[in-house]
Formats: sequence, structure tokens, C-alpha cells
Amino acid sequence: MKTLVTLLLLSLPFAGTALAADSDEIVVYKSPTCGCCTGWVEYLEKNGFKVQTHNTNQLNEVKAKLGLTDGRLMSCHTAVVDGYVVEGHVPVDDIKRLLSERPNIVGITAPGMPQLSPGMHSEIPKGYDVLSFDADGRTEVYSSY
Ligand code: CU
Ligand code: CU
Repeated sequence: MKTLVTLLLLSLPFAGTALAADSDEIVVYKSPTCGCCTGWVEYLEKNGFKVQTHNTNQLNEVKAKLGLTDGRLMSCHTAVVDGYVVEGHVPVDDIKRLLSERPNIVGITAPGMPQLSPGMHSEIPKGYDVLSFDADGRTEVYSSY
């Protein structure tokens, strides 16, 4: 047991370094004409993420391929960061938490178009929930604003 704990402690700093190297890169799929999607991309960049943007008119196909098929969870843009789906106007704090905790889920989403959200009308999120969703379609509240 003591050896295990020592091993865990020793491996932690290296795991942290590896994570920091990849996890600031995020790929965003959005419609070419969506203003609030562009707003969210700019917000990510302002917060230190490297964003690769793909304009597409086949967003529903992209979502389906990534395991997001429930219309109730969908929003205007779909992102992928370190293997996780990030759907809609999700605040950066949730993305950072996702990358550090690495839960066994498909991703997180801010369904619909929350008015007071980053990319919409407020960089300080207010009045909506971010949900997690897994491969079996289970959802949970990930954070509340
Ligand atoms: Cu939007
Ligand atoms: Cu959008």
C-alpha cells in the first residue's frame, strides 16, 4: 500500500505536465454564419485555449459522430477537447475542470442558447446549468450558474 501511494505521488507531476501540453487545444465545429459561435471561440482564445475552427453546414452529422444524438442536449456549436465533447456555450471553468478530473463521460453541454453565457450576452455565466452526458444517454448537472 505504501509503495502504491508513493508511485501515485511520483507519477502525478508528470501526468499534470502531459495534460497541460494537450488540453489547451480545442477543435470547434460551427456554422459559417453563426455570430454567437464566433463569440464563444474568441472567449476561449482570450482564456488561453488554442482553437481550431471548422465551418460546416453538417453540424448534426458531426454531433452524431461524436456521440451526441439527444436533441435536448444540443446547441449551436460542437467542440472536442482531449477526447471530450463540449457542446454549446460552456464556460471555461467547466472545460478546465473536465480536463483535470477526466470523468467517464462523453462530454458536457450547455443546451440551447442561454442568454447570459460566454459568446452570448455575458462572459460571466448566469441562469443556466451545464450538464454532463455519458454513452448511455445519462445526464447529470455538472454545474449551475
Ligand atoms: Cu450560440
Ligand atoms: Cu455557437
